[in-house]
Amino acid sequence: MESSEQRIKIAVQKTGRLTEHSQDMLERCGLKLTKSKDRLFCYGENMPIDLLLVRDDDIPGLVSEDVCDLGIVGLNVVEEKRLELEAEGREAMFSQVFALDFGHCRLSLAAPNENDYVDINSLENKRIATSYVHLLNDFLKKNSLQAETVYFSGAVEIAPKLGKADYICDLVSTGSTLEANGMQELDVLLDSEAVIIQTKAKLSDDKQALVSRILQRLDGVLQVRESKYIMLHAPRSALAEIRDLLPGSGLAHVRTLEWLMWQMGGVGPMIGQAHHFLFKPKVDVPYGKKRYHDETNRLYKVMNKRLDDVAYLAGENYSIADIATYPWVARFPRHQVDLNDYPSVKRWFDTVSERPAVEKGMAVPFLN
Ligand code: PRP
Ligand code: ZN
Repeated sequence: MESSEQRIKIAVQKTGRLTEHSQDMLERCGLKLTKSKDRLFCYGENMPIDLLLVRDDDIPGLVSEDVCDLGIVGLNVVEEKRLELEAEGREAMFSQVFALDFGHCRLSLAAPNENDYVDINSLENKRIATSYVHLLNDFLKKNSLQAETVYFSGAVEIAPKLGKADYICDLVSTGSTLEANGMQELDVLLDSEAVIIQTKAKLSDDKQALVSRILQRLDGVLQVRESKYIMLHAPRSALAEIRDLLPGSGLAHVRTLEWLMWQMGGVGPMIGQAHHFLFKPKVDVPYGKKRYHDETNRLYKVMNKRLDDVAYLAGENYSIADIATYPWVARFPRHQVDLNDYPSVKRWFDTVSERPAVEKGMAVPFLN
């Protein structure tokens, strides 16, 4: 058995909006967790990692004081604590490692729907209720504004009704709390999401190695999610259009899946290999070059034959199969294919290239 000294402790929110996601992300990293009877801990069964279940506001302090090695908490809480320590002349003994892309919310100024707010200068000499005193004061100071901060530990949104404040500065996520209280969001002070922080205390080599491993796995989980995210987070208003791209039944459905599978099993992996051997290879491997260049050309032949007969891969309509295949074809110089050798692919490629959404997507900087 390892002593508890060698186990990594991660502080996570006990109950609240980050709780489920925090544990879920760690489980995706391969950590198997069991809750302790008192529900204050989760023990890692297959790795020397335990979770400490605490109030989110306590997490930066626990990591700063080296009670926990890592913590998962909202950036808003982290920044508030950092400013609080700074005001006391102390240094925060944690560093922010990276953002985890969940728990998105913002620290915003809000007021009752009837208000005469124009811009931040409207705050001059007003009373603002908040639990984020340091973040608010920092904002006021940076903008050379004089206003009175009124501390509320919770239920900040009732302050104006109680006659205690003119404005509030609070977290907004869906906006439903503000709406339910007849209030309006005015300006954003800070965009927030869950982040992982690490103690600045020196860890033993074993512990540091384990921390690095878990951070690396978290990063991996984030990268995988990114690709699935796009479809899952489409706005409701776009659902009808998305349904056309992903027909749910009938022949169009079968053809779309067929060609999407063809992209996933053929185009992605094989052209990926072609790039590996043909584009700035670290080692020159004639066998690999020929094998994947030939296979790429075979795939282009298949695609050209299909597109001799129909406008798009799945048939007469643009679909997810085209969306998945297009970025690969767009790299034709890398896999050394001349589109003029495949006239129907070229016709398809030019048509798809002209779609505004495709133009927008392809304008996103390419990193390697
Ligand atoms: C925040 C904030 C609001 C609510 C806003 O509290 O104080 O009450 O969330 O969310 P909405 O825009 O989705 O309605 P939170 O639940 O984070 O509690 P805490 O600050 O006490 O941790
Ligand atoms: Zn809290």
